[in-house]
Amino acid sequence: MLKTVDLNGKRALITGAGSGIGRAIALRLAEEGMKLALVGRSADKLMRTAALTGRPLDMLVLPTDITTARGIDDIMHIMEGHFRGLDVLVNNAGMALNCPFEETSDEAFDKIMALNVKAPFVLCKRSLKLLRQSDCPTIINIGSVTAHQGYVQQAAYAASKHALLGLTKSLAREVCGEGIRVHMISPGGVYTDMIAVARPDLSPEGMIQPEEVAELAAYLVTHRGNAVVDEIRLHRATKEPFQ
Ligand SMILES: NC(=O)c1ccc[n+]([C@@H]2O[C@H](COP(=O)([O-])OP(=O)(O)OC[C@H]3O[C@@H](n4cnc5c(N)ncnc54)[C@H](OP(=O)(O)O)[C@@H]3O)[C@@H](O)[C@H]2O)c1
Repeated sequence: MLKTVDLNGKRALITGAGSGIGRAIALRLAEEGMKLALVGRSADKLMRTAALTGRPLDMLVLPTDITTARGIDDIMHIMEGHFRGLDVLVNNAGMALNCPFEETSDEAFDKIMALNVKAPFVLCKRSLKLLRQSDCPTIINIGSVTAHQGYVQQAAYAASKHALLGLTKSLAREVCGEGIRVHMISPGGVYTDMIAVARPDLSPEGMIQPEEVAELAAYLVTHRGNAVVDEIRLHRATKEPFQ
């Protein structure tokens, strides 16, 4: 029987925790007894997530725009001061863009890279000091199948997720000797608000559920055996593959 990590009382920071995959991961890790810092721009959405955990007093609601340096500074100060550390970082917040290549503005490209790549980069960098003090330090980055394959009208989004994959794989190697696990979960179409924007051509039927992604996140955090999971790709079981 493999020994699993007891997450009771451990601390996680989850971006984009007010909806979709981020909320599902928050609820799943709360079930394990974790204390959570819930990050997103909308306080209302984050408070709803905190309420749904059934333990709102153990949850920190941090309404923040993570594409600003000030926002990330504030989050890290609160993690140090209030939570006195960090065990698990989940870089989940992200945006999609479904746009023909030539119509994708420079500003839209910068915006998607700021949220999907630079924010996780800065959060990983700023979190390492705290993660080094943990006995189960883990980073999970939420990628996408677009990190592995090109899709029509998805150049900017695919570029951002390819970049996040490169960051994840390199960081994983750089810190594995210190016991810090860095993973990427790359789902296909998940049934959230985002999918309507990213892939209006897909029907909700047979879509991956956010809870399926959350279950894998919980697995990665609780299983720290000798085998390290490099990355997980999730495809829909039905219809066309790679969607
Ligand atoms: N749905 C899919 O099919 C799918 C497939 C593969 C990968 N993914 C990835 O999964 C992740 C979560 O997406 P989702 O499907 O759950 O979509 P979602 O419900 O739209 O979640 C995105 C979250 O990011 C937060 N966010 C956006 N901009 C932010 C900012 N500047 N600062 C802080 N938080 C911000 C949003 O909250 P606020 O608006 O309140 O800030 C929202 O809670 C993304 O990285 C996405 O690329 C999704």
